[in-house]
Parts: sequence; structure tokens; C-alpha cells
Amino acid sequence: MTERLEFYRCKICGNLIQVILDGAGELVCCGENMEKLTANTQEKVNGEYHIPVYVKDDNGFTSIQVGKELHPMTEEHHIEFIERISEDKTKIQLEYMHTDKEPRMELQNTAGRECAVEFCNIHGLWGGHND
Ligand SMILES: [Fe+2]
Repeated sequence: MTERLEFYRCKICGNLIQVILDGAGELVCCGENMEKLTANTQEKVNGEYHIPVYVKDDNGFTSIQVGKELHPMTEEHHIEFIERISEDKTKIQLEYMHTDKEPRMELQNTAGRECAVEFCNIHGLWGGHND
């Protein structure tokens, strides 16, 4: 049984998928059940930051950056994507990141209350919100 917008990962090959419409079946990859990912919301104390942070100016939110201090973007350790999700889960926007740029999604519009998730190639899925 899956739910809309859940993330699942294959522990063997690394396939990462997101559920668009839910269903009753188990998701299988490489012959095994995929692992459901739950976003971390508490920073570890290791000098690296992963929680997506909404950056604001006088006119509203302008971008989502990964970490209150920006996360590294090297070949070995980087952010794969940032996704924003409206509170009612009816709208999503996903942007893949590049290792030669900051881990940041520029916002063209400001929705109401929403959350953001990001995926680090080493440390997995993390979530934050805009209030
Ligand atoms: Fe990381």
C-alpha cells in the first residue's frame, strides 16, 4: 500500500521513485521490496546542514536552499534535487541540482504553507517547511 508523493528506494541498485497515484501493491525492484524513505527533520551535529530552508525578503519567499549553511556540492557529496510540495499535496515542483551550482531552488511564486524535501547522495532525504 502506497501513498501519494511517498519516496521509495531500492537498496540494491539505488533506484529512487516517487508515488504519483497510490495503490495497494508492494513496490519491488531488483527482486526485493523497495524501502520507504521518511524525511529527516532534525539536523545531526556534524557541521553539515541538510534541512531545506526558505529564504525570505520583504516581498516574500525567494528561494529554498539546502542547509542554513549551504550543503557541499562536490562530485562525491552533493544534493540531487529539491522538491517543494503544497500543504494539500496538490502541487509539486522538482528541480535537479548541479554540482557546479549552489543547492538552491529559486521561487517564481509564493504558495501558501508548503514544505520542501531534498535528497543528499550520501545522507538521504530531508524535509523542512516555510513557517
Ligand atoms: Fe549530505
